[in-house]
This record gives sequence, structure tokens and C-alpha cells, in this order.
Amino acid sequence: MSKISIGANDRVFVLTGAGISAESGLPTFRAEDGLWAGSRVEDVCTPEAWERNPWRVWEFYVARRVAGSQAQPNPAHIALAELEAQLGSCYFLCTQNVDDLHERAGSRRLVHMHGELSKAHCENECGRAPVEDRAIYRSLDEVGLCACGGLLRPHIVFFGEIPLEMPRIQEEIHKATLMVVVGTSGSVYPAANFVHWARQHGARTVYVGPEPPLNASAFTYVVEGKAGEVLPGLFTVERS
Ligand SMILES: NC(=O)c1ccc[n+]([C@@H]2O[C@H](COP(=O)([O-])OP(=O)(O)OC[C@H]3O[C@@H](n4cnc5c(N)ncnc54)[C@H](O)[C@@H]3O)[C@@H](O)[C@H]2O)c1
Ligand SMILES: [Zn+2]
Repeated sequence: MSKISIGANDRVFVLTGAGISAESGLPTFRAEDGLWAGSRVEDVCTPEAWERNPWRVWEFYVARRVAGSQAQPNPAHIALAELEAQLGSCYFLCTQNVDDLHERAGSRRLVHMHGELSKAHCENECGRAPVEDRAIYRSLDEVGLCACGGLLRPHIVFFGEIPLEMPRIQEEIHKATLMVVVGTSGSVYPAANFVHWARQHGARTVYVGPEPPLNASAFTYVVEGKAGEVLPGLFTVERS
């Protein structure tokens, strides 16, 4: 398949995963060896890890902040921002990524279902909104407290926690006629189910990545290749 045509009546839902940031130099989460940037997710990305050793968790995400700030958006992030500019309110992006490369490429209509590196929230889940936090902490003593007295933790959805913005995501999937999924292994739920929800409503579904994901059979098309090479020029937009 050379081009995906987007017509006047199409509504596009895009889901991205760690693979879209790989060409920007940010490592993906490798399901086979269970490591993300050299760490076991059980040690850095679960409620139990936070209970056991909050500094170990902060240390990992501080390192992700440093790596994220040094990375630049790649042609895949830019191609999606350009698609949004053409489609306006008929476009919606949901990313599993916690980096801000989509925003820095120009995307605006997006949600981060697994949280954001640039924010922190209360460990007690006391209901206060997340706060901007880009600090490069050197010890737990430097990390601030919430007004309720709880320690601030990275604004990251740990494995086992409920993803953010699910009602809005479900509503957007419900309306979509085309779902484009980029660079996600299809192993983290509920994101791996989005393609099935889209198919139930009759949407076309396209996957872009160098290898088929675990849920490949649910896609109408699988386009094998790197996101930064495939996405620019993949879409033709026909709006009346
Ligand atoms: N940049 C980030 O924010 C980041 C990075 C790593 C992990 N995570 C977190 O860990 C979890 C990872 O799950 P996941 O399914 O997103 O990723 P994953 O690491 O499980 O899978 C990455 C996928 O990207 C594909 N890929 C590799 N290079 C690619 C390229 N150049 N173009 C397109 N695809 C490419 C791989 O084939 C693989 O299927 C997510 O929940 C996410 O929040 C985030
Ligand atoms: Zn609090």
C-alpha cells in the first residue's frame, strides 16, 4: 500500500507508542527482556516500586527527563503534526509516550494516556491536579510535597494503574473512521485493545512499524518500516 487516502467524511484517531520516538534516540520498552532504558519495569514503574524505594523511581524518571530534553522530534512526529494541521477537529492523537516530542513537533489535539515526564502529582492521589515539574532532582530531599503532605511522584501511570482520559479516548475511537497505530508492540493494555474497538465501529485500521505488533491480525493494513521513513507522504488528504 503506497498511500492512505483521507476523505472529507473521515475522522482520524492516531495511537503512538515508544517506537515513534526511537528514531529520536529514546529507547523503547523491550518486552522480551523486560527492560526499559536498562531498568526492570518492576523496579521503576509500579506502585510497589514506589512504596519500596521512591528515590529509585524518581532517579529513573529524572534520567528520562534528561534524555527527553536532549532529543528532538523526528520526521514521524512532524508528519503527524502536519496531518493535524490539515484535518483540525477531525484529528485526534493518543500517545502512550511520556516524552513531549509530539508537542514540540506542533501537535495540539493530543492526550498522554500514560502520563507526562514534565509533570508530578501527589502520591496520595488526593485529587489535586498534577503540577508542572521538570526538575533534575539529585536526592529525594529536593522533591516537593503536595498541600496534603504527600510526596510528589512522577506524573506517570504505573503498570497496574488506570490510564488517563479513558472516557475521552473511548469517545474519539467511537467517532473515528480511520485508526493509525504507530510504533507500539501491542502488549500494553488497554491500548492494545483500541484497534479492536475501532474495528467494531467499522473503521479502517493501519499499523506502521518495522515489525508486525502482537495484535497485527486486527489491522486492515500493516505497513512495515520505520515511522520516520513511512509517515511523511503516507497520507493524501482530500477535503472538499
Ligand atoms: N518515549 C517514551 O515516552 C517511552 C519510551 C519507552 C517506554 N515508554 C512506556 O512504556 C510502554 C511501552 O509500550 P509501547 O507498546 O509503546 O512500546 P514497546 O517498547 O513495547 O514497543 C515498541 C514498538 O516500537 C516498534 N519500533 C521500533 N522502532 C521503530 C521505528 N523506528 N518506527 C516505528 N516503530 C518502531 C517496535 O517494533 C515495537 O513494536 C508504554 O506504556 C510507554 O508509556 C515510553
Ligand atoms: Zn495531595
